[in-house]
Amino acid sequence: MPDNTEPNRLKVAIIGCGRVSEKHIRAVTGLSDRLVLCALADTNPDAPSQLLKACKKKIKNYSEVTAALKTYIDYKEMLSAEKPDIVAITVPSGLHFQIAKDCLEANCHILLEKPMTMSNKTSRELYELADSKGLRIAMGHIYRYFPIVSLLHEDMANGVFGKVGHGSVIVRWGHDNDYYKQAAWRGTWKSDGGALMNQTVHALDLMCYLMNSEAKSVNGMIANRFRDMEAEDTAMGVFTFSNGALCQVEGTTATSPKDHEASFFINAEKAAIRISLRKGKPSYSITTIKGKNLAFKYLRRYIKQNGLKYLIAVAKNPHYGIYADLHRAITTYTSPVADGRSGYLAVDMVLGFYRSVLKKAETELPLPNEFKIEEMAKLEIR
Ligand SMILES: NC(=O)c1ccc[n+]([C@@H]2O[C@H](COP(=O)([O-])OP(=O)(O)OC[C@H]3O[C@@H](n4cnc5c(N)ncnc54)[C@H](O)[C@@H]3O)[C@@H](O)[C@H]2O)c1
Repeated sequence: MPDNTEPNRLKVAIIGCGRVSEKHIRAVTGLSDRLVLCALADTNPDAPSQLLKACKKKIKNYSEVTAALKTYIDYKEMLSAEKPDIVAITVPSGLHFQIAKDCLEANCHILLEKPMTMSNKTSRELYELADSKGLRIAMGHIYRYFPIVSLLHEDMANGVFGKVGHGSVIVRWGHDNDYYKQAAWRGTWKSDGGALMNQTVHALDLMCYLMNSEAKSVNGMIANRFRDMEAEDTAMGVFTFSNGALCQVEGTTATSPKDHEASFFINAEKAAIRISLRKGKPSYSITTIKGKNLAFKYLRRYIKQNGLKYLIAVAKNPHYGIYADLHRAITTYTSPVADGRSGYLAVDMVLGFYRSVLKKAETELPLPNEFKIEEMAKLEIR
């Protein structure tokens, strides 16, 4: 049986047993020297067993893991019975705020899926609450955990690439109408938002992380071209950053579900960085102004720092990196790589973008007041 008595083995509970939670279970059970899965909670009583069945082959020591696991319908009951150290929140986005707040109030560290919440005000409230209680929030911003990204962030901060000129981010994460029909919350303004809030928010966060800068203003446009949903399936716009850089964004779910792409480009004085994930395959190039590609050098450095086993684990499932990092942050009293503030800033960027669409005007960031995403329902976008 898993040994709960190890001092640094933290108890993890997951609230919400839908599509993304499989990645969480695989990550937690893959880190069984540091973490133990103690509970699953879902308002649908069949969801935990369906989830476990779906990932049976991907979990090491499956029978031991499930023997130690309790399931709950009411997450509040789970919090008081299990007293987990970490709670992963993988429920529909419109429920993130209240559940995350309840978990922090129960003194749990949290791993909160993106987007942090549906409002800039509540996202800020969460990270301030966590800070005031000495708790950690790790965001489900998977791109920060891709191999070599941490080294690029570090070198950018140390001026290795010189000044940043501009960036560009493309998220073509196709979903068909069947995806939007899977659950009533998908594609609604109130509980999900569109391609920007759901599929692009963590890509915007990566641009902030790589550029070591924060967004200063935004001007955007949205449309719904193909999908049966309330919110946009396509968004395009330009951010300015406080370091002076411009960043262009294209976020869409209107492309083919069989050809997912997330591509990042940064043009700096001394090199151009390209990171791309297409049909699940990553590619990197860090090309100096003399034309030399340093990608392999970065990969070697990353393996030297983290080990090959870690690289393979995060390449297969970036949530492995998020949990490993959250464990490190809790046990060393430091911050996770994708912390609560990054969650707030990413939500603020998206809401600023939506506001600029609604007002047909460039919007300054961070937003000084709350912008309610429901206001977007006024707009005709078809
Ligand atoms: N980081 C990533 O790569 C990534 C990928 C996919 C989804 N997500 C995010 O994860 C979240 C969940 O997405 P999904 O696709 O797994 O959704 P889903 O609809 O497939 O699953 C949500 C689950 O939460 C359960 N639930 C609803 N209300 C609940 C409550 N009050 N208490 C307990 N359980 C409750 C539902 O029954 C369902 O099983 C969303 O916020 C989404 O944006 C992140």
